[in-house]
Amino acid sequence: MTEDKDTSISIRPVCIDDAGFLCDLMNCPPVLQSLNEVPTGLQDWADAIREWNSDEDEEDYIILENGTSIGWLGVNGFLNGDKTVYLKMAAMMPNRQRHGFGTCAIRELMTDLKRRGFERMILFTDQDNLTAQACYAKCGFRIAESLVETMSNGKDIQRYRMESCLSY
Ligand SMILES: CC(C)(COP(=O)(O)OP(=O)(O)OC[C@H]1O[C@@H](n2cnc3c(N)ncnc32)[C@H](O)[C@@H]1OP(=O)(O)O)[C@@H](O)C(=O)NCCC(=O)NCCS
Repeated sequence: MTEDKDTSISIRPVCIDDAGFLCDLMNCPPVLQSLNEVPTGLQDWADAIREWNSDEDEEDYIILENGTSIGWLGVNGFLNGDKTVYLKMAAMMPNRQRHGFGTCAIRELMTDLKRRGFERMILFTDQDNLTAQACYAKCGFRIAESLVETMSNGKDIQRYRMESCLSY
């Protein structure tokens, strides 16, 4: 998939060699803050990748810009049996955010999921995360519900559930 004549955005499945990249990404202070997450270590990511790779309910992808890792997309719900999957994670390196690359990568993921017969995608995002909402809106997501959720860092956060139909 091409963003402009010089930039190629693509996604590929996560592999064990991505532990270092995911550790770097998920310990960037702005990313931790946006996601209300807590710091993690390299071993946490190696363990997580091994778990994902043996979990048929989950798929994780690295976002590549001209072959260089710049982000992570995580999807689960594959075993629900209702043709609905969940975007459990979308995170880009801070200096690669707001270039349209997240939109490009999520659209590529959604095209693949649609081709595989999935009909609906759901996600949860913070109400004050306007960049994420703008990105998801461009991918066809609409707000379906407002709720409060207790996050990993213990904060109670106002959240939206957003949904997108994959069959349009
Ligand atoms: C959320 C995230 C994955 C989106 O990816 P991205 O590559 O930055 O998103 P895009 O550049 O494709 O789209 C963002 C859009 O938001 C717009 N935007 C940015 N700030 C905005 C604001 N304050 N109000 C409204 N729109 C805003 C941008 O202009 C852009 O739209 P445009 O391309 O039409 O100009 C990425 O920003 C990220 O990793 N953020 C930190 C982690 C995070 O919050 N993840 C989401 C958890 S639900």
